Amino acid sequence: VQPLQFSNKTHNNKLYIPSFGLVLVLLISLASPASSCTEQEKTSLLQFLAGLSRDGGLAASWQDGTDCCKWEGITCRKDRTVTKILLPSKGLEGKISQSLGILTGLQYLDLSHNSLSGGLPLEVLLSSSIIILDVSFNQLNGTLQELPSSTPARPLQVLNISSNLFAGQFPSTTWKAMENLMAVNASNNSFTGQIPTHFCSSSPSLAVLNLCLNKFSGNIPKQLGDCSKLRELRFGYNNVSGIVPDELFNATLLEYLSFRNNHLNGVLDGVHITKLRNLVTLDLGGNNFSGEIPDSIGQLKKLEEFHLDNNNLSGELPSALSNCTNLIAIDLKKNNFSGQLTKQQIRRAAFTKNG
Ligand SMILES: *[C@@H]1O[C@H](CO)[C@@H](O)[C@H](O)[C@H]1NC(C)=O
Ligand SMILES: *[C@@H]1O[C@H](CO)[C@@H](O)[C@H](O)[C@H]1NC(C)=O
Ligand SMILES: *[C@@H]1O[C@H](CO)[C@@H](O)[C@H](O)[C@H]1NC(C)=O
Ligand SMILES: *[C@@H]1O[C@H](CO)[C@@H](O)[C@H](O)[C@H]1NC(C)=O
Ligand SMILES: *[C@@H]1O[C@H](CO)[C@@H](O)[C@H](O)[C@H]1NC(C)=O
Ligand SMILES: *[C@@H]1O[C@H](CO)[C@@H](O)[C@H](O)[C@H]1NC(C)=O
Ligand SMILES: *[C@@H]1O[C@H](CO)[C@@H](O)[C@H](O)[C@H]1NC(C)=O
Ligand SMILES: *[C@@H]1O[C@H](CO)[C@@H](O)[C@H](O)[C@H]1NC(C)=O
Ligand SMILES: *[C@@H]1O[C@H](CO)[C@@H](O)[C@H](O)[C@H]1NC(C)=O
Ligand SMILES: *[C@@H]1O[C@H](CO)[C@@H](O)[C@H](O)[C@H]1NC(C)=O
Repeated sequence: VQPLQFSNKTHNNKLYIPSFGLVLVLLISLASPASSCTEQEKTSLLQFLAGLSRDGGLAASWQDGTDCCKWEGITCRKDRTVTKILLPSKGLEGKISQSLGILTGLQYLDLSHNSLSGGLPLEVLLSSSIIILDVSFNQLNGTLQELPSSTPARPLQVLNISSNLFAGQFPSTTWKAMENLMAVNASNNSFTGQIPTHFCSSSPSLAVLNLCLNKFSGNIPKQLGDCSKLRELRFGYNNVSGIVPDELFNATLLEYLSFRNNHLNGVLDGVHITKLRNLVTLDLGGNNFSGEIPDSIGQLKKLEEFHLDNNNLSGELPSALSNCTNLIAIDLKKNNFSGQLTKQQIRRAAFTKNG
């Protein structure tokens, strides 16, 4: 049997036979129009630049008459369509121009950690191409607008508007168009009103929802239990009251759950809590929970952090806690617990994870 040969002379030779057809193909590809970004894209970028009162030196690179694909912070794909604008921490001040909304191939817009002010233009939020929108750590204000109910589905997957000055109610059912959202980080703003109920009926893929450090009030909407993909739910440091609805425990993929510093009350439901077998962090500190820690807590085998401090819990610590062998931190201070800690509990609490 002859061994397989890769460098066969006759094959190689074929590649070097000059042919009129090959030359033509080469000529056409050299003359292809995709050698610079389009005038329209350049114009909308220059409009964005013009809206800045401090450009952090961008103007030196963003020169009309040059290929905008080579400008600082800009990435294009092979056909010279702008796909990314990455300008975090550039010292930018001024407004975000609505002109960024007409870049038809823009997928990733990162303007985080600047000093931009004014509103987030609806044209940008409603972009038909943006997948990741990160404007966190700026001074943007105003409200998040409702979307026209006729808005077709948008590709947006990640929305990070955290650490700004947004206020007002969070948009409600009219956010149906945001059906691809996977992560929403609206923490550290001044949103008021009820936590929206619609999140997961409009955005069934939602995995991360961070609303902490706002002024949300009212109760925990039971519809959050429909969030079958939800891994992280945080709304600490708000003004939410009432009990934790049983339905919430249907969100069984939850790994991180924090309601810290609200006004929740009621008891920790020993039956329902065991559904959250993926929980790694449970932070209920700074509320008004009462009653005892249920024995069934021992079934949460992945639990690493468990914060119940500053509540009104009582009774003895269940010995089943020692079944949570991954616990690193447990904070029970400022409650009304009684009884004695067993030596085993103390040893576990002190040495779990590190042996
Ligand atoms: C947003 O802040 C600017 C000042 O930076 C202010 O003039 C404007 O009224 C504010 N807009 C809203 C809707 O609060
Ligand atoms: C904004 O939030 C997204 C999604 O949670 C995250 O991936 C990103 O790192 C955040 N940006 C900053 C600057 O923290
Ligand atoms: C949300 O943004 C804050 C910054 O404001 C950041 O610390 C946090 O990690 C983000 N959370 C998520 C889940 O992306
Ligand atoms: C909240 O946002 C402000 C303004 O952007 C920022 O200075 C502060 O560090 C943020 N706080 C947290 C906890 O992220
Ligand atoms: C907190 O919520 C309660 C009702 O649930 C309301 O009466 C109170 O005004 C709210 N406080 C703030 C600071 O929003
Ligand atoms: C969600 O939980 C509630 C109450 O615990 C229950 O009645 C309901 O059947 C659950 N729904 C689903 C879809 O599992
Ligand atoms: C806990 O409930 C009591 C009695 O209803 C109330 O006075 C207190 O303000 C509540 N504490 C918190 C942190 O919500
Ligand atoms: C804790 O683990 C022990 C041994 O595996 C088991 O017998 C006990 O039922 C567990 N308790 C709880 C509450 O899970
Ligand atoms: C604390 O819980 C007890 C019952 O365990 C209840 O009688 C008392 O009113 C609660 N205190 C507050 C401040 O909610
Ligand atoms: C703490 O629990 C005891 C009974 O175990 C009860 O008499 C007392 O009122 C409780 N204190 C508070 C602040 O709830």
